[in-house]
Amino acid sequence: MCGIFGYTGKRSDGGSVVVDGLKNLEYRGYDSWGVACKTPSGISVSKDIGKISSVDTKQFSYSCCLALAHTRWATHGGVTPENAHPHLSKDGTIAVVHNGIVENHEALRLELLTKGYTFVSQTDTEVIPYCIEEEMKAGHAFPEAVRRACLRFHGRYAILAMHEASGMLVATRTGSPLIVGVGEDGYYIASDIPAFIEHTRTVQYIDDGEMVETDGNSIQFRDILTGTERQKREVRITWTVEQGQKGDFPHFMLKEIMDQKESIARAVNQDDDAIRAVAEAIRSAKGTFLVGCGTAHKACMAAEYFFSVVAEHHVNVCSAGEFKLYHHFLQPESLLIVVSQSGETADVLEAISVAKAKGAKVLAIVNVEGSSVSRAADYTLLINAGPERAVASTKALTGQMSVMLLIAYALKHALHDGKTLLLETSALINDMLNPRYVERIAAIAAKIKSHEDLYIIGKSWHYPMALESAIKIQEVSYVHAEGFAGGELKHGPIALIETGTPCIALLGNDEVTGDMINNATELKARGAMLIGIAPERNAIFDEWLKTPDAGAAQPIVTVIPMQILAYELAVQRGKDPDMPRNLAKSVTVK
Ligand code: AGP
Repeated sequence: MCGIFGYTGKRSDGGSVVVDGLKNLEYRGYDSWGVACKTPSGISVSKDIGKISSVDTKQFSYSCCLALAHTRWATHGGVTPENAHPHLSKDGTIAVVHNGIVENHEALRLELLTKGYTFVSQTDTEVIPYCIEEEMKAGHAFPEAVRRACLRFHGRYAILAMHEASGMLVATRTGSPLIVGVGEDGYYIASDIPAFIEHTRTVQYIDDGEMVETDGNSIQFRDILTGTERQKREVRITWTVEQGQKGDFPHFMLKEIMDQKESIARAVNQDDDAIRAVAEAIRSAKGTFLVGCGTAHKACMAAEYFFSVVAEHHVNVCSAGEFKLYHHFLQPESLLIVVSQSGETADVLEAISVAKAKGAKVLAIVNVEGSSVSRAADYTLLINAGPERAVASTKALTGQMSVMLLIAYALKHALHDGKTLLLETSALINDMLNPRYVERIAAIAAKIKSHEDLYIIGKSWHYPMALESAIKIQEVSYVHAEGFAGGELKHGPIALIETGTPCIALLGNDEVTGDMINNATELKARGAMLIGIAPERNAIFDEWLKTPDAGAAQPIVTVIPMQILAYELAVQRGKDPDMPRNLAKSVTVK
């Protein structure tokens, strides 16, 4: 996933605007960066490997009213300055930035080579400005040239192009996000709202198969296939700039973990009729499928237990990348529930299109209003977590789980009980998340930070949290953490346990606690250094981290100390928890 941001209008600080704005999108990609500015002597391009946060914006303080910028998460071509975006047309009058993949780039590259073009990068992106240039040579004006060129591209992408002579920005998307910010002083086009929210909170969403063209004074939306004009309403964004900033926290990840003092209560603040309607849709569906990726998938796994234990209702769960497994079972009466923080994950969008092709209804549980997933779904429930900027998803997970636990209670015609439980849980979490608790976890992290392998076990609805805790620890601290179902250890993984191996047992106060103590004892008997995350202490624990007893909401409570442990391990091992290597905040490619 990459970050895209462009501006055109009356402002003369366009270069600084796009660079500072892109710094707010750094979580989208941080392999390399690039900026193109229209100057009196032509389009000036600066680009390099590394993070855009390290770029001194002052170098772009010259007068510029048309600019675009990009942060890259490499797909085609290594992390080099040459592969960084923007890429220019041969005559240097067109600059392009791109998110996604032009899947037929090799064929286009061969065709362009025969027309005398030479390539300076290994990227698929470089074919884009050349194809636009060819269309302009054929006599088409810039917007029409972009439209005709894009019709030749296969794959999922977002493209933003600027043209020196016309001073125009033209953008189009299919499967990757792009949003227009409508300012009093011009137009902003970006991958995500934090890029321009300090300038305007009025947006217009670009849908798949649409293009937008602006000269900074006015804007026009079009259908990319036909070029016909489309009208777009303006939407007012409700969250504030501060919500998207770190504040006094050293990292977004810690801020967002602490946000869970309030975010769970926000997730629970749903329209009762909407929740009951979802429950009725599940009740009447011929097969309900919960689908997500990564952490969102673990939220779906936890929800399977919620629906089973609370409502005695069966649902199917799978990661979006494996949804093909269920294609044959989809029918018009099926219900697909997709869970996604960003609402831009390619595999999730793919699952939606398959389900809709079969006539099934789609419910989206997302954090980003107006995201591609929410716009593709028939119904949307927002978890209201506020912007989640750290690559590691934390408050979105507990928000997703809270909404699905609420639905489970509504399935049992006990929505009020569910809201009461979750609001009580929110208060318990508020009390739990105090500095002493974080210090306690930091001390545990210090004892295990030198280990490269770490195992986490859980049973019932704690099993998905064992898997999720492993993802957290893997992705920010690079420790090889693995999650297991407690009952599975004896069937293989226990062979990995040696003296001193750190093992974490996740427990509640429920009917599987006894079995889990047995499983943890088996680890202890083989020399494990045993850490218990539980409401009650046990003699087998070498370290015990107390969690409140939250009944059916226990998994929500249990995963939070594991988020903090992952964060502390990352920081103590000298890693940047907000921008872990090889990862991006939203995986918009398959
Ligand atoms: C979670 O910490 C990871 N960053 C990753 O697994 C993430 O949950 C996954 O890519 C799904 O993202 P989404 O929720 O935006 O769809």
